[in-house]
Amino acid sequence: MRIGTPLSPNATKVMLLGCGELGKEVIIALQRLGVEVIGVDRYENAPGHQVAHRTHVIDMTDATALRHLVEHVRPDIIVPEIEAIATDELVRIEKDGLSEVIPTARAVNLTMNREGIRRLAAEELGLPTSKYVFISSLEELEAAIEHTGLPAIVKPVMSSSGKGQSEISHPNDCAKAFDYAQKGARVRGARMIVEEKINFDYEITLLTVRAKNSNGETDTHFCAPIGHRQQQGDYVESWQPQKMTATALKNATHIAKNITTALGGRGLFGVELFVKGDDVWFSEVSPRPHDTGLVTLATQRLNEFELHARAILGLPVSTKLESPGASAVIYGEYNEAAISFDNLDEALSIEGTDLRLFGKPESFERRRMGVAVAIGENAEEARARADDAAKCVKPVSHLLD
Ligand SMILES: Nc1ncnc2c1ncn2[C@@H]1O[C@H](COP(=O)(O)OP(=O)(O)O)[C@@H](O)[C@H]1O
Ligand SMILES: [Mg+2]
Repeated sequence: MRIGTPLSPNATKVMLLGCGELGKEVIIALQRLGVEVIGVDRYENAPGHQVAHRTHVIDMTDATALRHLVEHVRPDIIVPEIEAIATDELVRIEKDGLSEVIPTARAVNLTMNREGIRRLAAEELGLPTSKYVFISSLEELEAAIEHTGLPAIVKPVMSSSGKGQSEISHPNDCAKAFDYAQKGARVRGARMIVEEKINFDYEITLLTVRAKNSNGETDTHFCAPIGHRQQQGDYVESWQPQKMTATALKNATHIAKNITTALGGRGLFGVELFVKGDDVWFSEVSPRPHDTGLVTLATQRLNEFELHARAILGLPVSTKLESPGASAVIYGEYNEAAISFDNLDEALSIEGTDLRLFGKPESFERRRMGVAVAIGENAEEARARADDAAKCVKPVSHLLD
């Protein structure tokens, strides 16, 4: 792949659909390789907007608006960073040869809906997953738990960050879980998945990269497994490497290789897996960098964003782990625009730590506004450091001044 000069007629143009904290890091990685980056989000001054060459604000779920923007900008490559996009239009854009979609328009379309990706994994590829049933009514939900058993988990098929997701431990919980999923869904009258709850020992993200080698063939690379802890649908801390038995790791890479090969294209994927002893279940996959992978900002020679950028551009990658490490999330704590952060000096005086403040224009109590990352002799030491550093950072309200 030849890379041109940004802001000139021969520029290599990449359009990011979604400019959150993950998109921001992908943009920085692309900028470093001399790519012209166009950042798109639904609101102004999103984190990625602040580091892109040019920015646009549109409703990315609006197919017409998305089509117009792509025809106007004519990017060589489109990189979706979020799920809430008019993905059917991306399929048409790719088919019409307007632009290439990472990893492929079909993969982006399949993974934004739990039904598409679950059926591909379990029914076409035969990969191990929790027992599941897709439903559209309360009656179907009540019947579904006969198959999944209890406890079960109900999720809207189109949702992320745990939105609309709840657990059923008794048949009487069905109505409440159904209502909650209806409210949390991205669209009205939503379909849902009911899943058997897996009593896992731990869960991991296996970052998997499909990248071209110097012979032009696509190879699959795996990063060291990332362990993480979820709370209310969002990750609160992650660490790398997560210790696994050799058999569990073999099962995990087998699943990751299969699902990413089926999705195809180039780029980095976050494959989410549940592990109990040597047994591994496929949960879901993001065809893009994963929030739990923020830990790689500290641990890998090439972090997950740099890996994505290289793979996107058809360049070779290395998934080498340089040090065990961890990440811990920093929340806004206040519901207000333009907050500040104090006590960064104390956080950064902790051995082996670093910080990212995302620059989000508006804070919410539970909004992820930054992350602390740390290296250590082992993952445990790094976890303690990242956690301490995240706790040191103090959001400041100006309304209370
Ligand atoms: N079937 C399940 N069994 C056990 N835990 C689950 C199951 N499904 C989801 N979870 C828990 O909820 C978290 C979020 O679920 P996930 O399906 O990844 O939703 P999202 O798309 O919002 O990330 C998972 O990381 C896991 O901790
Ligand atoms: Mg998930």
